Amino acid sequence: MSLIGLFKGKGPNGFGYNSTAEDVTSGLDLTGKTYLLTGCNSGIGQETARVLGLRGARVIGAARSMEKATAACANFGPDAVPIVCELSEPSSVRAAVQSVRDLGHTLDGILCNAGIMALPKRELQHGYEAQFFTNHVGHFILVTGLLNQLADDGRVVMTSSTAHTATYSEGIRLEDLAAENGYTAWGAYGQSKLSNLLFANHLATKMKPGQTANAVHPGVIMTNLGRHMNVVARTLFPVVSPLVLKTIPQGAATQTLVATNPAAAGQTGQYWSDCNPAKSSSFGKDAALAEKLWAKTEEIVAELN
Ligand SMILES: NC(=O)c1ccc[n+]([C@@H]2O[C@H](COP(=O)([O-])OP(=O)(O)OC[C@H]3O[C@@H](n4cnc5c(N)ncnc54)[C@H](OP(=O)(O)O)[C@@H]3O)[C@@H](O)[C@H]2O)c1
Repeated sequence: MSLIGLFKGKGPNGFGYNSTAEDVTSGLDLTGKTYLLTGCNSGIGQETARVLGLRGARVIGAARSMEKATAACANFGPDAVPIVCELSEPSSVRAAVQSVRDLGHTLDGILCNAGIMALPKRELQHGYEAQFFTNHVGHFILVTGLLNQLADDGRVVMTSSTAHTATYSEGIRLEDLAAENGYTAWGAYGQSKLSNLLFANHLATKMKPGQTANAVHPGVIMTNLGRHMNVVARTLFPVVSPLVLKTIPQGAATQTLVATNPAAAGQTGQYWSDCNPAKSSSFGKDAALAEKLWAKTEEIVAELN
């Protein structure tokens, strides 16, 4: 347990900061259930998928290459199915949608876990800032393409972050999604994570009764996500990690709980942290902004090849 963990209690549902993905699924039998998860080959996604498989679920594990997905899926139980999904390439995401449709399984959950963080210099994908495009637009294409396959009580879980509070002062720069003005690594990451959160909020208003969409902050965990951070941060992280950060099993807990646990059944349009509903920023609750982002993303997607 980290130093911070020593001072953290449990939340109203009996789980909290120190809970792991195994803890939040203890006693659950997920046999017969199917979950699609992006970013299955690393970090908290890999642990989430491992625990879903451990509890009997079929995991459809998406990674950027078949090699990575296949190697990862070897650890997710006998029914795991690897697929390729490169979120920054719409053709790859659409092919992933088709692969999942072809498998024919009803999806009990879609976990949009993959992400990139804090690119030091502005990068573009298809004319849009790369974190916004990868973390948000890629997942938008994936989830909206698979809604017909979601179970009547299916759950969509967007891995957002507390970094959504560190977005640009306008919230989402809908008029400058190529980040031509004033790009910052953390502003752009925050904007992409706010987009994940607002996507979940707006999706929740469009789903069938019984289906749910939520966003989570997993905690702060040392993973490969920090690969673009500067050398000082990358040197300090491993030193402070055991003292102040969550472990990977703890980091996987919130999204695993929201995807599977009866404690989250029927709860929708919420932001979760430490395995319990939590407060997001005021932008994170802005329904008008969520609607504008949805409309803008539909425009972007319609124009992509
Ligand atoms: N770690 C934290 O402290 C923290 C805090 C808040 C939120 N989060 C969120 O948690 C999620 C998981 O992060 P993590 O910490 O587990 O990081 P990680 O170990 O770096 O895992 C990220 C995953 O996303 C995949 N990915 C990256 N770019 C992709 C792309 N273009 N197309 C498809 N997949 C792509 C990576 O694949 P490759 O390995 O092939 O690159 C990897 O599987 C992210 O959404 C992140 O924003 C993490």
